[in-house]
Amino acid sequence: MTTAKKVLLTKRPEGEPVESDFEVVEAEMPELNDGEVLLKVEHLSIDAFIRTTLDGPQGLHGTMDVDTPVMALGIGRVLDSRSDELNQGDAVFGPMGAQTHVIWPANMLRKVDESEVPARTYLGALGMTTGLTAYAGMICCGEVKEGDTVVVSGAAGAVGTVACQLAKIAGARVIGIAGGDEKCKFLTDDIGCDAAADYKAGDLNEKLKELCPDGINVFFDNVGGDVLDAALDNIAKEARVVICGAISQYNDMENVTGPRLYLRIPERNARMIGFTVDHYAELFPKMEAEISGWIKEGKMQLPEHVMDGIENFPGAIIALMTGGHMGKLLVTP
Ligand SMILES: NC(=O)c1ccc[n+]([C@@H]2O[C@H](COP(=O)([O-])OP(=O)(O)OC[C@H]3O[C@@H](n4cnc5c(N)ncnc54)[C@H](OP(=O)(O)O)[C@@H]3O)[C@@H](O)[C@H]2O)c1
Repeated sequence: MTTAKKVLLTKRPEGEPVESDFEVVEAEMPELNDGEVLLKVEHLSIDAFIRTTLDGPQGLHGTMDVDTPVMALGIGRVLDSRSDELNQGDAVFGPMGAQTHVIWPANMLRKVDESEVPARTYLGALGMTTGLTAYAGMICCGEVKEGDTVVVSGAAGAVGTVACQLAKIAGARVIGIAGGDEKCKFLTDDIGCDAAADYKAGDLNEKLKELCPDGINVFFDNVGGDVLDAALDNIAKEARVVICGAISQYNDMENVTGPRLYLRIPERNARMIGFTVDHYAELFPKMEAEISGWIKEGKMQLPEHVMDGIENFPGAIIALMTGGHMGKLLVTP
């Protein structure tokens, strides 16, 4: 008999999530039914959408029930199988949830190819909520091209880090916005940004004016709020403003602050485009093939910040919301 540890949401957060909103419990795993597999969860992807699912029905990405394991995508390893589709030892991607073990019907899971990259890459650079999101936003919506000046907010996080590199590969000049010196240094030294702006130090609008004297052609926004306004004030004619997310708003979704300077859009014949990554599902194989190629050629990397232990899952959500990581945040249960 296998015993699993699970992190349950016991109370919906009021504003910023805190450890006491969660509880770690143990449970015996039941016997497998036909078609099912028992998985050991190897890596959990700590994604911004998790925060909004903790809210009630108004959550941007749907809601989860209280007293159930927190929703999370992840990579699992098949420990036992009663399915012809998956064998013991296979690595799979799917909705693992915040737990050490899970049982799913095999047809709910995607077997991942570990021959070229570690399985957890399918949560990061090749992950739907990370690399493929950055591709959909930067390439499909932002239509980035050589010579563009591109600004990315939340640039030192998972989606942001990939978005910056995609823009560099396209031949753009890239400026990342992040909180703090260490993250700005990471963006210029490790990720290849041409410059970085610390939104926590000084006037971001002024800094963007200095860094983008001819205006911003593509703004890839992960943050919303004041950061979006500062960028809008600096867009060039015919700019593309891509709304990937608005993490500055996720702790208070009933009082979302919209952009004040949205009239820069008509003034400058610009476009503001929002997207959800699943809208581009037909392109996922092409995106994966291209990103894999860039990884192999050494043109793309996604540093990881790994937190060990399922008990640290609540702390990881808190770290994501407060910027306590660089690159892709993962938990190994
Ligand atoms: N459209 C889609 O289909 C889709 C899919 C996946 C993700 N997303 C969006 O992509 C964005 C990034 O998600 P991720 O999972 O990759 O997270 P992440 O960027 O790895 O982590 C979030 C980062 O946001 C920054 N942040 C948090 N609160 C902030 C605030 N009030 N103001 C400014 N920055 C703040 C923090 O960095 P600092 O230290 O720099 O503040 C933190 O590191 C989110 O908005 C998410 O909703 C969209």
